[in-house]
Amino acid sequence: MYRTHTCGELRLSDAGKTVTLSGWVQRIRRMGGMTFCDLRDRYGITQLVFDQDQPELCDKINHAGREWVLQATGRVAERTSKNANMSTGDIEIIVSSLVVLNEAITPPFTIEDNTDGGDDLRMKYRYLDLRRDAVRKNLELRHKVTIAVRDYLDKQGFLEIETPVLVNSTPEGARDFVVPSRMNPGQFYALPQSPQTLKQLLMVSGIDRYFQIVKCFRDEDLRADRQPEFTQIDCEMSFVEQEDILNMFEGLSRHIFKTIKGIDLPTLPRMTWHDAMKYYGSDKPDIRFDMKFVELMDILKGYGFSVFDNAEYIGGICAKGAAHYTRKQLDQLTEYVKRPQIGAKGLVYARIEEDGNVKSSVDKFYSQDVLQQMKSAFGAESGDLILILSGENANKTRKQLCELRLEMGNQLGLRDKNKYACLWVVDFPLLEWSEEDERFYAMHHPFTSPKPEDIPLLDTDPGSVRANAYDMVINGVEVGGGSIRIHDSQLQQKMFEILGFTPERAQLNFGFLMNAFKYGAPPHGGLAYGLDRYVSLLAGLDSIRDCIAFPKNNQGRDVMLDAPTELEPAQLDELKINVVKE
Ligand code: AMO
Repeated sequence: MYRTHTCGELRLSDAGKTVTLSGWVQRIRRMGGMTFCDLRDRYGITQLVFDQDQPELCDKINHAGREWVLQATGRVAERTSKNANMSTGDIEIIVSSLVVLNEAITPPFTIEDNTDGGDDLRMKYRYLDLRRDAVRKNLELRHKVTIAVRDYLDKQGFLEIETPVLVNSTPEGARDFVVPSRMNPGQFYALPQSPQTLKQLLMVSGIDRYFQIVKCFRDEDLRADRQPEFTQIDCEMSFVEQEDILNMFEGLSRHIFKTIKGIDLPTLPRMTWHDAMKYYGSDKPDIRFDMKFVELMDILKGYGFSVFDNAEYIGGICAKGAAHYTRKQLDQLTEYVKRPQIGAKGLVYARIEEDGNVKSSVDKFYSQDVLQQMKSAFGAESGDLILILSGENANKTRKQLCELRLEMGNQLGLRDKNKYACLWVVDFPLLEWSEEDERFYAMHHPFTSPKPEDIPLLDTDPGSVRANAYDMVINGVEVGGGSIRIHDSQLQQKMFEILGFTPERAQLNFGFLMNAFKYGAPPHGGLAYGLDRYVSLLAGLDSIRDCIAFPKNNQGRDVMLDAPTELEPAQLDELKINVVKE
């Protein structure tokens, strides 16, 4: 038997017992004639003690090094100097026998909370990084979240059903990862971007309530909240309206927060997509803090300040109590919004002084009277700071103002990772016009149902049609999204027409779904949460990479496995693939 207990288990009440532990050497210290060794496993750290009157044992431990794998047997004793920071800090093991299970070469970085290893190094040796508490805890949390999800959905009658990973490539959405088929030369499978069409087919099958914790693959540009392969909690229900779905999955979020964090989520507020864009410049507003946009076209246009006079949009935010911002800080904010990633031309600011007067950076164009009107529009008070952006394109300027709002939220400490603000964003537009391709794209996906009352607009003004689509947003992160689906094959056909598919191409790409609908499709809808995003929010992480055991880097590489790689010529021949090198 390798061990009787784990390294995180023993307490004062175990004193006197003879135990065997196995684990990795965290640290070895010599003090006087004694040698101490911290032995670590997944569960914790236990201090081993080697007395000088056991020279053979002392010799053995002094010969060992960091990350060696040891098995130690000894007696549990009360410590004279206790360590309140460790769960096992009241005891130590007086070792009577020691086995070296494996030696280890020196790790490339220290396996400590504050490691000296940089990002790249830790990714290359991810298996060592995972020995660190900080990273492993995120995997433990992830496990607990999936258990909570399965528990809730099982109680609600959902069936967990696996769908294939080798599927067909479909247009729309992101780029596919593809897999060549040896048995069908020249033909490719695609890895699913989501099991969207398959879960809809399961509804046609009468499964009624489906879920799957499932890997999805998207070949898109990577960011902190995007990985090429990621995991969805994918769900679908039959005979439901939008309200049923929102209630069911609000319930799931409530269950997750209660189980994992002990937090009782309040009823989730709902915001229309239109309001989210108007007041926050984003379809995923961070509502942990206020600072809503106020539009100022009516107040500030027409006073000879050409930047505003020529603008299509003028809007601002009021940062409570930030009038103390110095000129230098305001210059830095101006530089911030002028960075190419944000692209604003400049920033206008106004401080509300102690006497209530407004002092702005454009005072020469505006009387105090006009500035007071602006102040009232914000409901601003003495000590507040107003920040204003303008631009020729309203949506673009709103996006810039959104970045400024988030930055002010950061600077003023309003984006506390331990505080959670969840909401539903509803009534997304069905379609999105692409200037570049001069065609409509589905904002969510082509199977999303328009709001029934907007269906007539499909013929006259498709761009204004709202969808029965919704996103769940937590702290400015889109953690999930879904929609009610079209279950009528004719309406689905019309949707493909609007998206520019010929009937032949629609049949080719989506015939399997449209044909299935002819055999009696129930009204249905669903949603998918991004598990990685959900867990990283609960763990307070900046990147979803930290809750994924073996993530890819920003170039989509697994630096540990060194994937992707080139294939052997024989393998390529077998697949009938000719690689053309640039
Ligand atoms: P959607 O494309 O909105 O919807 O994806 C659902 C959720 O998955 C997460 N997500 C990602 N997480 C990490 N890396 C990525 N590259 C990535 N892409 C998406 C997000 C997102 O909210 N089939 C539909 C769902 C439905 O309609 O039922 C779908 O895939 O958290």
